[in-house]
Amino acid sequence: MPVTLSFHADCPNCRINSRLLQRRASTLLRECRVSGYDLSIRLVNDTEMSWLNEHYRHKSGPTNVLSFPLSENADEGTENHGANLQLAQIPIKELGDIVISVDTALREAKEFHQSLHDRLTWLITHGLLHLLGYDHELSEADAGQMLDKEHELLNKLHHSRSTAMTQLAINVDHIATIRQARGGVEPDPVAAAAICEMAGAAGIVVHLREDRRHIQDRDVRLLRETVKTRLNLEMGANKEIIDIALGIKPNMVTLVPEKRQELTTEGGLDVAAQKKMLAKTIDKMKKAGIPVSLFIDADLRQIKAAHEIGATFVEIHTGRYCDASNEKAREQEFQTIAAMADEAYQLGLRVFAGHGLNYQTTDRIAALDTIEELSIGHAIVARAAITGLDRAVRDMLAIVQEASRIG
Ligand code: PXP
Repeated sequence: MPVTLSFHADCPNCRINSRLLQRRASTLLRECRVSGYDLSIRLVNDTEMSWLNEHYRHKSGPTNVLSFPLSENADEGTENHGANLQLAQIPIKELGDIVISVDTALREAKEFHQSLHDRLTWLITHGLLHLLGYDHELSEADAGQMLDKEHELLNKLHHSRSTAMTQLAINVDHIATIRQARGGVEPDPVAAAAICEMAGAAGIVVHLREDRRHIQDRDVRLLRETVKTRLNLEMGANKEIIDIALGIKPNMVTLVPEKRQELTTEGGLDVAAQKKMLAKTIDKMKKAGIPVSLFIDADLRQIKAAHEIGATFVEIHTGRYCDASNEKAREQEFQTIAAMADEAYQLGLRVFAGHGLNYQTTDRIAALDTIEELSIGHAIVARAAITGLDRAVRDMLAIVQEASRIG
């Protein structure tokens, strides 16, 4: 593991997303072309930082970050000293330690109106540059050089992924819509789900609506048996469906608003207005071991409410971005989704996105580094109907021709 992150600080008031920090640090190493080297990041409190500052730099009180390069002067902690590190001279592939005081980082985050994770990311960047020999105290030119490099790296980080590859979950509701059009048994969403999984889907999503317009109870029961990836049951928070979910135990549920007259889910849940009721549902699900996602609009108030009531995931509604009538509006919707996904991720929520995504609109959302999974249905079923048509006609034609030859 090239980046190790260790905690020597208790921070009851903050939830630190170590996965995020490790990933950001790995990206920084890659951008600085030292990804083959190990880096240790230690998060300490002000008391430990004060001791280190006194011991290694003869300065009293805590500081925000200290770098300890693995070089000849490894016993010198550097905050403002250049490490003058000659990487090639280091026999083992380790850069050294970056020590950060979380207490100081928290104070600075408040002062600079940043999230704690952004502040920690800045301190890791700063510490890393010291490890690599940058020193803002040597001269004005050096300070400028270090600042420029910091900006360049932070800018690159902003555009790089912080999660592993985005996953794709397939919503098979509309396979059931076609079946229900004739009230028969074909096409079967259970068979469709198996094909989706074989093609690489990371999960299967179905919405068991109160009016059972597409997915039926039997589908959910069978899917629970057959889905090998992850079954995500979309549902309104009503008693009947909650009881079904508790009985069937999907891998997760996504709570959505549900109106009988709508063609499809029209908007996100108003979590802020229904905190008490949703918290109760989340609690019930959690007790049954079912994590809950809340389908919400890209809105900070909803994200904060989702976090407050203990949701594990939020799924950000991409409908308005997909349906935007012009490029300017689409760009605005995209920027809002990007910013809100970041806010949710920073709070420690796992972030999914979906609704209305198609072959034109998916790539930008999939490139957002905070979004873990996309839930897509209609566009894929629609494409399948077209791309599968040629084969379907040929198969039927073969039967007709074969039968007429025999006849
Ligand atoms: N996510 C949620 C919460 C949904 O309600 C739906 C539609 O059922 C989707 C994703 C998938 O949307 P689409 O079918 O437009 O891809």
